[in-house]
Amino acid sequence: MRRRSLLALPFAAPLASPALVAAQERALNLYSSRHYDTDRALYEGFTAESGIRIRLIEGDADQLIARIQSEGANSPADVLLTVDAAKLARAVEAGILAETRSETLQARIPAHLRAADGQWYGLSSRARVIMYDKQKGAPAGVARYEDLALPVYRGQILIRAAAHPYNTSLMASLLLANGAEAAEAWARGVVANMARPPQGGDTPQFQAVAAGVGRMAIANTYYLARFGASANAQEKALYDRIGVIFPNQGAGDRGTHVNVSGAGVVRSSANQASALRFIEYLSSQRAQELFANGNFEYPVVAGVAPHPALTALGSFRADQLNAQRYGALAPEALRIMQRAGWR
Ligand SMILES: [Fe+2]
Repeated sequence: MRRRSLLALPFAAPLASPALVAAQERALNLYSSRHYDTDRALYEGFTAESGIRIRLIEGDADQLIARIQSEGANSPADVLLTVDAAKLARAVEAGILAETRSETLQARIPAHLRAADGQWYGLSSRARVIMYDKQKGAPAGVARYEDLALPVYRGQILIRAAAHPYNTSLMASLLLANGAEAAEAWARGVVANMARPPQGGDTPQFQAVAAGVGRMAIANTYYLARFGASANAQEKALYDRIGVIFPNQGAGDRGTHVNVSGAGVVRSSANQASALRFIEYLSSQRAQELFANGNFEYPVVAGVAPHPALTALGSFRADQLNAQRYGALAPEALRIMQRAGWR
């Protein structure tokens, strides 16, 4: 009998068994500002398929970006996952994301929903729409974002604060479509038409529409769709009561502004190939269903069905403006809004 006593081995050897080292390496650190229950099932699916565990580090997007920056070359982060093009653009500007190339992702994700150099890939999208009270009917003459600035809608518009990235992204899309002068005039018109100074998130805007505070709310689709799937009768009733206008749908018009949730491989990651494989996994049919439906968003991959509560809001054509372009213009968009008196 060959005896290899543990005591004969160097002191640290039992801790560094090859199997254990391999197990430690078969993990990715995901820095995420998304926190939905369904995301867990999503990550388990990747582990089942690849043998790679996902360690989730949650935080607010700005915190996570700052943390990766301060950790520098030693950052344990492999993948950054966040919502909003402006946040993704900020991560690009911070220099923390790696340029990547993936034929799978290029084929599956439309070009306007990913960075051209592969620094990030959109994984779900949301539309910023105009909501109204069906009991009062659709506001006459409102078909475009531009219409919201018309003087006939004085005191009718409900929208959150300027500084929120959903608004800076929308504003940046108007800036790119119409130029700086028209964009500022639009912002002034919207401010003049506000039913009240901006307060609260997207949901309180359409709640205020039903309460008669204003006639139109600007909000992201998933906030309303979420109520459509709610077990709470009041929320379900509100969902049934609110109508949606998808702006800029006319022939030749640019389409409705959409924003993204997306992920990128962290530049300092020692596991870039696995990290990209994880993002590719998130674009698979099954993962897209879980990912998008976890927050009632639109899948980015064609042929994957959104949640029925979202589909029921209506179909639309999306603005094809690249999210990296408008995301990068967020600071300028905010300055325009602030100049226009949008708090
Ligand atoms: Fe949100």
